[in-house]
Amino acid sequence: MGENGTVWLPEGASALTPEWDGLFYFVYYVSLIIFVGVVGAMIYFAFVYRRRKPEERPAFVKDNKMIEMASVVIPTILVLIVFTWGFKTYVRMNVAPPDAYQIQVRAQQWSWTFEYPNGAQSVGEVHVPVDRPVQMVMSSADVIHSFFVPAFRVKMDVLPNRYTSVWFHATKTGEYQIFCTEYCGTAHSNMLAKVIVEPEADFQKWLQESQSTDLTPVERGEQLYKQQTCNACHSTDGSPGVGPTFKGLFGKERPLEGGGTVVADENYIRESILDPTAKVAQGFNPIMPASFGSLPPEDIDALVAFIKSLSE
Ligand code: CUA
Repeated sequence: MGENGTVWLPEGASALTPEWDGLFYFVYYVSLIIFVGVVGAMIYFAFVYRRRKPEERPAFVKDNKMIEMASVVIPTILVLIVFTWGFKTYVRMNVAPPDAYQIQVRAQQWSWTFEYPNGAQSVGEVHVPVDRPVQMVMSSADVIHSFFVPAFRVKMDVLPNRYTSVWFHATKTGEYQIFCTEYCGTAHSNMLAKVIVEPEADFQKWLQESQSTDLTPVERGEQLYKQQTCNACHSTDGSPGVGPTFKGLFGKERPLEGGGTVVADENYIRESILDPTAKVAQGFNPIMPASFGSLPPEDIDALVAFIKSLSE
């Protein structure tokens, strides 16, 4: 985005940009045409049919069926076009392709931290490969923030008590601005970061160089699984225990005690760690201690990553 701002959308750099911009400008120009038409007709009529003499009386106006029909049918068609187009685009924007490369995003007052599947971390900039779908799985350590990349046309709230996500498919290499667009305190307007879109080879090279000697999130999750003695109740090989096994748990639809089902996604697993009795899996007793509620967000992310890794 230019330093001086503009009334037009910034140059797009993601696969969904043409569709998104098409819809935006369709609404924009249709509104413009209707605005000019309505205001123009108003000014024209006010001038042509103005009262010229004090005794002048307007003639009786009879209704015109054609005009009445048109003023109902045309707006209805326009609204249906915008709805259909908008709904399709919305679904495409919200459902990440299953093979998307996943990056964990942690927001806090007032910075962005990014963690990659190999354990590499970066602050204030996120490296992504070009021509490949990338999904950001986001959470906040404190208040509500919002992740906004104008060039990719993606914006999503980042919340302290659940995961949200956005995905994009960058089509051009380069640097793009990330803004926080939810007022989050004193340094809100400085809560900036950059997306650095690189060719796959450069990205892989950067990823290797940035990998710390630390464990990957999955390895850290496995370590926590033992340290926090999750293994006392939850097996990883499918064998029954006091609690449900973690093997093949992720992504499944799970029946609950007291009826209903839930899909075991990131948010369900997170909730089950922080508030174990909220949704109890069918056939189990609500006896998991609530003490895991004090685990830091990085540990929750790692445990989720570990449970996810057992889904295959
Ligand atoms: Cu974070 Cu505004």
